Amino acid sequence: MQAITINTLLAMKQAGEKFVTLTAYDASFARVLDDAGVDVILVGDSLGMVVQGHQTTVPVSMDDMVYHAACVASQTERALLMVDMPFMSYASVDQALDNAARLMREGGAHMVKLEGGRVQLPVVQALTDHGIPVCAHLGLQPQSVHKMGGYRVQGRDESTARTMLLDAEQLQQAGADILLLECVPAELAKEISANLAIPVIGIGAGADTDAQVLVLQDILGITPGKAPTFSKNFMHGASSISDAVKRYVAAVRQGEFPAAEHSFK
Ligand code: KIV
Repeated sequence: MQAITINTLLAMKQAGEKFVTLTAYDASFARVLDDAGVDVILVGDSLGMVVQGHQTTVPVSMDDMVYHAACVASQTERALLMVDMPFMSYASVDQALDNAARLMREGGAHMVKLEGGRVQLPVVQALTDHGIPVCAHLGLQPQSVHKMGGYRVQGRDESTARTMLLDAEQLQQAGADILLLECVPAELAKEISANLAIPVIGIGAGADTDAQVLVLQDILGITPGKAPTFSKNFMHGASSISDAVKRYVAAVRQGEFPAAEHSFK
């Protein structure tokens, strides 16, 4: 079995093949996802909501991320392991380097993910210079939910769309290996994906990104509270959790998910 690397994902983008990302937070689910063919397992700070029961991702600590990353890493053989840097863990370059090193050394991460646009360029550049792969996260940035005034689609007007496009290009230039777009109009996500050489993962960003990601609890129909409209419950018609994950993998690879009803205009 060939382990997935950033080169694999880049080659898939170049070949026009979709890759599949899904969140996991523990060893048992990591094993299920890895066996089902998920290409990238994301230990998301969404664990603050779906594991810890908070209203936002803001309370999640570095120790929480390291703990859950190590649990997932213990049962991940094939997938690339991406781990979120939590709220305020990358507010300076030095802090970002120290915390990313913890996620890789203690948590087993292959890549770290952080939210923000041009303000993060020095951090992305420094992580890149030190050999740490980075996924930059634009669009809806849940760690900034209080500043954004709620969970809203981003980039709907001309000016914010242009800013996002420019931020994406600059993050790529600074060394980002992957871009993740959350809750962005499908047409804008398509344009950004076409403009960038690096792969773009979408969530609530339409069908034309290079990859998709969802939160595990959403595809299993066990979201605490209301599931986001861009997600889909893959347990419907599935015979087991493993079967549901395989159906999600197949739907993304074949371009059947997301449908128009899971996207924004
Ligand atoms: O924390 C997370 O799970 C994420 C996804 C929603 C993309 O960042």
